[in-house]
Amino acid sequence: MYEQESHSLLNAILDDLKPEIIRQDLRHFYTRLGANFYAIYSLFHILYGHREDFRTQMLSLVETMAKGYINRSAELEKVDIERERDHNWFLSQKWVGMALYTNGFADNLADLASKIPYFMELGINMVHIMPILKCPIGKSDGGYAVSDFRRIDERIGNLDDLARIAKDFRKRDILLVLDIVLNHTSDEHEWAQKAMRGDQRYQDYYFTFDNREIPDMFEQTMPQIFPETDPGNFTWNEDMQKWVMTVFHEYQWDLNYSNPKVFIEMLDIILFWANRGVDVLRLDAVAFLWKKIGTRCQNERNAHLILQLLKDCCQVTAPGVLFIAEAIVAPVEVIKYFGEDAIIAKECEIAYNATFMALLWDGIATRNAKLLYQGLKNLPNKLERATWLNYVRCHDDIGFGFDDNDVRAAGYEPYAHRQFLIDYFSGCFQASPARGEVFMRDEITGDARICGSLASLAGLEAGIENNDQELIDTAIKRIVLLHSLILSFGGIPLLYNGDAIGVVNDYSYREDEGKSDDNRWIHRPKINWERAELRKKQGTVEFVLFNALKKMIAIRKETSAFADFNNREILDTDNEHLLCYMRFDHRRPSERVLVVANFDSNPQYLDLDRISTRGINLHGQKIDIYTGGKPAQFGNRIVLPPYQFYWLSTIG
Ligand code: GLC
Ligand code: GLC
Repeated sequence: MYEQESHSLLNAILDDLKPEIIRQDLRHFYTRLGANFYAIYSLFHILYGHREDFRTQMLSLVETMAKGYINRSAELEKVDIERERDHNWFLSQKWVGMALYTNGFADNLADLASKIPYFMELGINMVHIMPILKCPIGKSDGGYAVSDFRRIDERIGNLDDLARIAKDFRKRDILLVLDIVLNHTSDEHEWAQKAMRGDQRYQDYYFTFDNREIPDMFEQTMPQIFPETDPGNFTWNEDMQKWVMTVFHEYQWDLNYSNPKVFIEMLDIILFWANRGVDVLRLDAVAFLWKKIGTRCQNERNAHLILQLLKDCCQVTAPGVLFIAEAIVAPVEVIKYFGEDAIIAKECEIAYNATFMALLWDGIATRNAKLLYQGLKNLPNKLERATWLNYVRCHDDIGFGFDDNDVRAAGYEPYAHRQFLIDYFSGCFQASPARGEVFMRDEITGDARICGSLASLAGLEAGIENNDQELIDTAIKRIVLLHSLILSFGGIPLLYNGDAIGVVNDYSYREDEGKSDDNRWIHRPKINWERAELRKKQGTVEFVLFNALKKMIAIRKETSAFADFNNREILDTDNEHLLCYMRFDHRRPSERVLVVANFDSNPQYLDLDRISTRGINLHGQKIDIYTGGKPAQFGNRIVLPPYQFYWLSTIG
């Protein structure tokens, strides 16, 4: 958009750019800057327009983008241009992701590179390598307390190792995903260290207070993230003689985005990693970016404006790079992290579908799909050019953050139902086979979350320990069932390290001083590669799981109806144990796949007469594209054995 005021400012800024910038060939940079400048200027003005140094900061912002562009390699610029041309590339069904800790999956980055054949064997072509940046020993929050945003932790490797991985990945069409921890730094970060020594410039990078007046006010409305280990949201710092805001752990200092210097620093860091060949950046804890007295300090409007501004700026320098929003918040809030409008107010192209994840676990515990159906039916539609990251497990705890109205509509009382889920997954409920642990019970709200590996939560650990073949089989079926849904729902499925070979809980964290108070480590295992070899040996759990997932991934990639163009319809089956949805090819809507999953331990039937009322004729012969066989059908009723799923295509 052309707008006089911002355009004349842009002219003036371009005149003021440092001579070494002007000397470069900036053709593509200028066209993108021209296209986005009005939005960039407007957002920067809403956030920082009241400041006297607004113009200086604006110049510094443009210089940061230009510098980032100059440092972008010709190869990456080629990727940018290809992706601009094929801008829906990431909505394809061809992408399948995996998240892992470098030292959980391998020994270090160099060793990880040697495990690329494993990704290819399974069909993984997007790898989220979890935090690898320099962080303190012990007080690291699994790498999410960064002490240097430009250095890789020596225990894990160095920039050369990463360059090699980026290159090897690109050669094989595997996307590289890295984290940017935007919301906070470690207290050992240089900025925090300078702040501690009294440097005002860096104290302004954080939220520091002389006394409890403002912190106490904030505490009235802010929830606690880690109430058991790090109660409250502020920590007293002896060196500074001040309180500092620390929403997560006491050693994670929240960054102050009302300071434009912080914004520009973090943009510079984003561009630094974009230029190292990262395809997708996972923006950590984005819901927390803006703090406002009298609120929960989550999902604030300005947090969205910051993300929009980051997106607009990153598009000028490195338009091929995508953002993932890690916002584990209520369904109506999550959807906003895609942006308000795909063209003028975009934020992150991809967002964690935490709602779906939690609902899937509800289905496992209740053996029905009542809440799952209700929650998915009410999941708001996404913008165009936006997609979900669908997952069953990740490195974090599971929070049952469903919408209370959905819980009631499914026939439950919200508080009691959540308590049931916590009891179920921590194995306290009757004969529950789940082996999870309660995470961070909040004495004030009564709320708690759950930790545990997928296999252990699904009953595999208990089955193996008790030599109970029936339970082992059930657990395997449940694990496969859950994956059949994240692979067909629409969006990028994200598998978690170890889940494809049924890795159970790792209790060794209890003996480790740096980990023992955080039971999320129970599901952050170190892969035993000798065991993993069992995936090649018939009759083992590893073999059954790995091959089921491998096959499912291969079929997903060939099924265009599984691409994500808002081409899904959730169907009411009149059977509370079944989840059922229709996926159709957005270009050829008659090419459809009917997905149906039975969460119950008893056989259930799908009545085609019930769901064929929507103008779609479902009566032809059905083929399950996963097995290639025909499901048992009697009249118009399709039978699903316990924990069975079908991906049905209609022929004739
Ligand atoms: C994100 C990470 C989590 C971490 C938190 C604070 O939610 O996934 O592991 O504890 O951010 O950085
Ligand atoms: C982040 C996530 C939340 C998680 C927490 C600790 O806040 O959004 O879901 O519980 O980190 O892992």
